[in-house]
Amino acid sequence: MKKHQSKEIAVICGSASPDLGKKICERLGIKPTAAEVITFSEGNTFVRALENVRGKDTYIIQGVNYPVDRNFMELLFWVDALKLASAAQVTAVIPFFSYAKGDKKDEPRVSIRARVCFDALEAVGCDRVLTMDLHSPQIQGFFRKPMDHLYARTVIADYFRKKMQKKDDWVVASADVGYGKNAFKFGQELDVPVVIGNKLRKDHTENAQIWNIVGDVKDKNVLIVDDIIFTGGSLIAMAEAAKAQGAKDIYAAVTHGVLTASAQQKLSDSVIKEIVVTDTVEYRFEPFGPKIKTVSVAPLFAEAISRIHNNESISALFPA
Ligand code: R5P
Repeated sequence: MKKHQSKEIAVICGSASPDLGKKICERLGIKPTAAEVITFSEGNTFVRALENVRGKDTYIIQGVNYPVDRNFMELLFWVDALKLASAAQVTAVIPFFSYAKGDKKDEPRVSIRARVCFDALEAVGCDRVLTMDLHSPQIQGFFRKPMDHLYARTVIADYFRKKMQKKDDWVVASADVGYGKNAFKFGQELDVPVVIGNKLRKDHTENAQIWNIVGDVKDKNVLIVDDIIFTGGSLIAMAEAAKAQGAKDIYAAVTHGVLTASAQQKLSDSVIKEIVVTDTVEYRFEPFGPKIKTVSVAPLFAEAISRIHNNESISALFPA
């Protein structure tokens, strides 16, 4: 900690994020607060902090990934338990928030699920949220309290910078305009041009098609960037479209490596040479194969927690 604070920090590692939580605590130089989570035989969840948290600046690290609803309920119970135990402030640290995809009413009679989740967090008294690469930034407006939003970009760019000896040979690509702004930030960070795919999904079957690519990929190595891999369909469609237009090697860098069942095999068999994901998602539908590398965002989360605790800037971590 850079400045002295009278309030102590307490960090609880929820059952969706034990490894990331442990790494964050190591980085902060503290032990995770002892805690227990029990799932009873009928499926209901019980949580309890086993140490005093009165007056402490408390952080619960709990991804909202598979099993999504169970993990979200555990997060709500943690916030409630810590508020009732008189923690001074409770921050929900959500490395990956699956319901971020439910951020709009673009069809009749649907729920805006991301907003419902933040309403629930507010109702149990959550004081602040710390999260990473939400599917869309406007989701921050669904929570009426402070939300700090981190980007894995800096960590991922560090990994790829080492590969990009000759910058003229590279482009950064997004499979759709939705991630376009982030792709441009990657392009700035790595100092290479950006191309954008025109992705279409006709329905909810998770089948993605790339109609065309805006920009030139011929004879270039292509780094496709994205926020999430679910089925791998978007990455593979973009990689195949780039290959069809004469691209050389294809790489991918994605913050949240969810990889639902069969994604691993499809990506292994694909034209993509290497895929880098972060450690925001710990649940594995299938073990990762050799094409997939993981880089840790624990140092970034630890730095953000330290800065929140000390009332320092978070945006300073991501120079424009
Ligand atoms: C879409 O807008 C997202 O940014 C991802 O591209 C998408 O959710 C990835 O899903 P999948 O791996 O199933 O194509």
